[in-house]
Amino acid sequence: MTNSIVSNTPDIPHRALLKWVEKMTKMCNPDRVHWCDGSETEAEGLFKEMVESGACIKLNESKRPNSYLFRSDPRDVARVESRTYICSLNRDDAGPTNNWEEPRTMRRKLKALFNGCMKGRTMYVIPFSMGPVGGPISKVGIQVTDSPYAVVNMRIMARVGRAVLDTLGTNEFFVPCLHSVGCPLEPGQKDVPWPCNPENTHIVHFPEERTIVSFGSGYGGNALLGKKCFALRIASTIARDEGWLAEHMLILGVKEQGKPKHYVAAAFPSACGKTNFAMLIPPKAVNDIEISCVGDDIAWIKPGDDGKLRAINPEAGFFGVAPGTSMKTNPNALLSCRKNTIFTNVALTDDGDVWWEGMSKTPPNHLIDWQGRDWTPDSGTPAAHPNSRFTAPAKNCPVIDENFESPEGVEVKAVIFGGRRATDIPLVYQAFNWGHGVYLGATMSSQRTAAAEGKQGELRRDPMAMLPFCGYNMGDYFRHWIKLQRGLAESPRVFHVNWFREDAEGKMLWPGFGDNVRPLRWIIQRATGQASARETPIGWVPRYEDIDWRGLDYGEARFEALMHLDRDRLRKLTLEYEDLFMDLMERLPKEIIFERELLISRL
Ligand code: GTP
Ligand code: SPV
Ligand code: MN
Repeated sequence: MTNSIVSNTPDIPHRALLKWVEKMTKMCNPDRVHWCDGSETEAEGLFKEMVESGACIKLNESKRPNSYLFRSDPRDVARVESRTYICSLNRDDAGPTNNWEEPRTMRRKLKALFNGCMKGRTMYVIPFSMGPVGGPISKVGIQVTDSPYAVVNMRIMARVGRAVLDTLGTNEFFVPCLHSVGCPLEPGQKDVPWPCNPENTHIVHFPEERTIVSFGSGYGGNALLGKKCFALRIASTIARDEGWLAEHMLILGVKEQGKPKHYVAAAFPSACGKTNFAMLIPPKAVNDIEISCVGDDIAWIKPGDDGKLRAINPEAGFFGVAPGTSMKTNPNALLSCRKNTIFTNVALTDDGDVWWEGMSKTPPNHLIDWQGRDWTPDSGTPAAHPNSRFTAPAKNCPVIDENFESPEGVEVKAVIFGGRRATDIPLVYQAFNWGHGVYLGATMSSQRTAAAEGKQGELRRDPMAMLPFCGYNMGDYFRHWIKLQRGLAESPRVFHVNWFREDAEGKMLWPGFGDNVRPLRWIIQRATGQASARETPIGWVPRYEDIDWRGLDYGEARFEALMHLDRDRLRKLTLEYEDLFMDLMERLPKEIIFERELLISRL
């Protein structure tokens, strides 16, 4: 029955996969089924259809070759953490920081939502690999979706196509990822440019079964299931079981002239500067150090046979925050989007190119804003949505690392945690040891951004930048981090950074962006036993003379302000963490309590 609507079922021996797709087809009842091969031709066909239907706009070919602009429904602009669930069998395994629902109850709910939900649409089957196809750390997912937008994005963000199916053989493991925008079409009903179903949105993970079901949203992490759902939430539970880490981390390489290259991984919460840090260009005067980018959002980190930690970037592209990205702040990100890029919710210029807040000092006189309305500098509203994004192939990045495709990954010398903190937290400091480092990560906080719903600017706890992405109990997660080190021959040094501290007038104390290479250089030198430091109650910090100041007029007094530690405030902030720890109490490792006691006594 279903075969008549499938034009191109591949000839593969994996019975379970074929069966699952058939089952999804029966349930969702699409008009057609298309198995994606990930080819250029396929993408061209999809874009052509979407341009014709009004789902997207082709940008000016001479300015932005092979690139497209999508505008989402204004109700579907970011991840929805309030509708994201971890449905483990046992509620405690999801833990107090995740939404939970009993799996069978959730399955029943989802079944009702998915029944006939693809009527009038095409169901696409996307075989994708997170990590290089066939690599020892890589994993395969199969996303079934009725969103052609998801298909063209997944093609950039992951490795898609027949080669992935071939790695599956007759019965290799894959993560089934079911997605629908939740808008069936009745015969003759005209489609809207961005179908979605905000009332019924559910982003659901079944960690024991390693499956993902997402309904109602077409945006970013809600719809590109290889990213947050698979590579973080499901992968973190697999990693817990197998003894490795799936983290919300960028990976970058640092090459100082005349020294070996070193790699670091850094966890900052959503829209807190990972993409910028991952591909930063040092200021001209700091001309003896080069940064290369392995990844900007997710790291899979595994102990190697040599007892050292090695990391891969499971993704193949960047789904980056557009606003604030300019040739001044992050030229490499902008250059990454010069062609073959999908833009979502940015503004359209009169000559068919894109614009967003921060791209240039003076905005164009006229734009079409992210909602398709005429816009002028007097409009009083942002032309691009604050969470507007570009989807760009990693290969476009001018400083993509030589080991970006290395299946075994790169050795991690240092781990950096960081948040968006207007007050209290200094530019950079180093943990005394691994246990203290885990405590630093566990007690991270950051101001909310537009990457998810909620009040922007409000300070919230975001342990290891994983609050929205940890697929299991956060207490177990901390324990896993502590345990992991015991098997290592050599563990990375751990640091904390903050690019966002402000002075009393609310002005940024630190220039950020390319200048972040200055604390980074100190970090690398500390991690390799070269730089000196001063001991404080919260950790090791650089003295003024430990930082490379070439080409920047940054006085000692300003540095003092940037690094200032207010013991009373810090003690208070430390004590305020009590509530999260109380929630996690049953599963909180004793090492965390111990580090906390030590810190309080030092303060
Ligand atoms: P996700 O993709 O949501 O996980 O975020 P991300 O961490 O990759 O965020 P990204 O690097 O795209 O940065 C988000 C915003 O922070 C952008 O508007 C940047 O311009 C801004 N930003 C990045 N680095 C710095 C910095 O060093 N200083 C300041 N002031 N702003 C920065
Ligand atoms: C984030 O919010 O951390 C992102 C964007 O990287 S999304 O993929 O939409 O989650
Ligand atoms: Mn992210």
